[in-house]
Amino acid sequence: MSGIEENSSAPIIIIIIIIIFKWVTATAMPCYATQISLNPYLLLLQIQHSSSSSSSSSSPSPRTWWWWWCCWPQNKKPRSISISKTISSPHLPRLSLNGKSPIVSCGGDEAVSSSLLASQLEREVRVVGLVGEGSISPLKGAPWEEVMLHTAKRLKWIDESFEMRVFNDGLLGSSDDPMVKNLQREISNADILMIVAVNNSDSVEWILKNCGANVPNIICFDSSPSLKNKLGGSVVGTDSRGSLFSKVTGILQKNNDNATDEVVQTVSEAWDRRNSDDIRFCLLVIINAYIRPVSSLKNLRSKGFKTLNCMVKNCGSQILNCLLDPNCRKALQCLNRCSPVDQVCNYRCIASYESPSLEAFSLCVLQKHNCLELDAKIPDKPYVPPMFKFRGNDLDHETAEDLFVGWLGRLDWSWRVVAGQNPAYDQFPCQYQLFYRGKARGSFWYEPVFQVMTLEGKLVWRRRLYRVKRGRIPGTFNFSVLDNGVVSKEFWTIVDVADDLGWGLFHYSGAAEVAGQSYTGAVLVSPDGEYPNEKEKLRLVSALEKCGIKEWELYKVDNCSCQDPPLGIPEGSSLHSSSVEIKELK
Ligand SMILES: *[C@@H]1O[C@H](CO)[C@@H](O)[C@H](O)[C@H]1NC(C)=O
Ligand SMILES: *[C@@H]1O[C@H](CO)[C@@H](O)[C@H](O)[C@H]1NC(C)=O
Ligand SMILES: *[C@@H]1O[C@H](CO)[C@@H](O)[C@H](O)[C@H]1NC(C)=O
Ligand SMILES: *[C@@H]1O[C@H](CO)[C@@H](O)[C@H](O)[C@H]1NC(C)=O
Repeated sequence: MSGIEENSSAPIIIIIIIIIFKWVTATAMPCYATQISLNPYLLLLQIQHSSSSSSSSSSPSPRTWWWWWCCWPQNKKPRSISISKTISSPHLPRLSLNGKSPIVSCGGDEAVSSSLLASQLEREVRVVGLVGEGSISPLKGAPWEEVMLHTAKRLKWIDESFEMRVFNDGLLGSSDDPMVKNLQREISNADILMIVAVNNSDSVEWILKNCGANVPNIICFDSSPSLKNKLGGSVVGTDSRGSLFSKVTGILQKNNDNATDEVVQTVSEAWDRRNSDDIRFCLLVIINAYIRPVSSLKNLRSKGFKTLNCMVKNCGSQILNCLLDPNCRKALQCLNRCSPVDQVCNYRCIASYESPSLEAFSLCVLQKHNCLELDAKIPDKPYVPPMFKFRGNDLDHETAEDLFVGWLGRLDWSWRVVAGQNPAYDQFPCQYQLFYRGKARGSFWYEPVFQVMTLEGKLVWRRRLYRVKRGRIPGTFNFSVLDNGVVSKEFWTIVDVADDLGWGLFHYSGAAEVAGQSYTGAVLVSPDGEYPNEKEKLRLVSALEKCGIKEWELYKVDNCSCQDPPLGIPEGSSLHSSSVEIKELK
């Protein structure tokens, strides 16, 4: 494949089409036109879908597909169709992918959306959270009220102008309470009302009476079924089981509902995962869809045709290789089930079905050619201070590195992860960390080794290689990694390490720039993967507080079957600079 020149795309396209067609007729899949244009992996899938659709008589005509392809989010008919090179066959849509100009352009959309963008960008977004009094969340039994207050704080890290006020329904009992007036005022100005765990019949009645007309977006979780969800001003149905949002299966059948179904599905899946990142994510998805663009969710917005052109023009052979490779195809099918902004879902697919052809595809489309035109930044909030002293001495760079190296030498690993905060990256079973100094002077490396449960239920080992550079302040570091073809940069902070190295807490903020992902997280580590001793609790909680993390946000890493991890470090590496003495593990 490497012999094919990148800029001679026409022959490649013909080959792609023929092969895709042959393959697709064997494994026809349902088409979800609305998911198109959201992400390069989906575009790739769509190439095969569009050719399969024309082979069945009941499917939309090829023209309809092209229309969907380009113009779905705006529901507008294409304005111009310019075909310069055409590939035609009785079974295939007429295709033209010359990689120079877009084939279909949607009338006037860009101008509208950019002026809309400018006027809305600065606007404050007001969210009101109303929680059932005394209700308990599934997050380690933390009260919902505390969870929502914490969410309000985390929402501000994304954008200072996201204001969230939290109330509990206990105060609704006494209607002359000034707080009730206050709540009423807040609700009448709110963009989003989030109702959580409200079942009390008086409260429900009050809500129905007071929040009917004004609030454009109402979402209810774990609450009375008589409360209705509303998005963009119109009521969204709940399914017959009374669960919050119905899963959307036939997106095509409801295509007049524009984005609502997609939002509903994304929000309900995220909510079902029950963690603090996803609760915030639910709100962001709604803000992004109905109030104003949220920059961290940029890749939900479509650039469909431009992306496709970019892919085909630059990465023809990588596309072909991916489609021919069963693992790569599996990854695409898996990604197709994720919302493109849902990091948890996406990363799981990519880690489950790693393959050289997927890596080459991502490397070409995202990393080299940035076909999505994204530029995610490392979040600068929360600011997490590093530990300043270790065993009574000021922390210097050497010692900080030694703390990372940790138990390696005495054990086969530096640290094992006990628990982590980020649902996308910290949740994998059996996480081992290897930190070591490289052969080259001043070089320092980090290799995490962890398991991934594939969607078929198989456990497989994964390993990544990070280059580590010292940050400006001792105890801070800049990490970079090439993860499945996409570069991620991370800023790590050693928040605390116990004097006997019994445990440590590392915080990170990172971004995969060209994939449009930015994230933060923290890992609690210990030599054996056991939770720190109870007497360390105060110090641990205070370390977590520096990261803005509550203990109930941490996931415990599953370490039930960690047989034969592929550990080991390259020959010629070295470990401690001898400033840190490691005591024998009791
Ligand atoms: C409220 O009622 C709904 C449906 O009846 C139920 O699913 C939910 O768990 C209840 N919530 C609480 C906090 O009891
Ligand atoms: C589509 O979304 C817009 C807001 O983005 C909303 O105003 C409009 O009512 C929606 N259309 C339908 C049919 O739901
Ligand atoms: C390290 O990361 C920080 C925080 O993102 C950034 O400000 C700094 O420029 C980076 N330093 C290097 C050498 O890349
Ligand atoms: C592994 O994790 C489980 C909980 O996930 C914990 O109960 C157990 O003690 C851990 N075992 C080791 C050896 O770390």
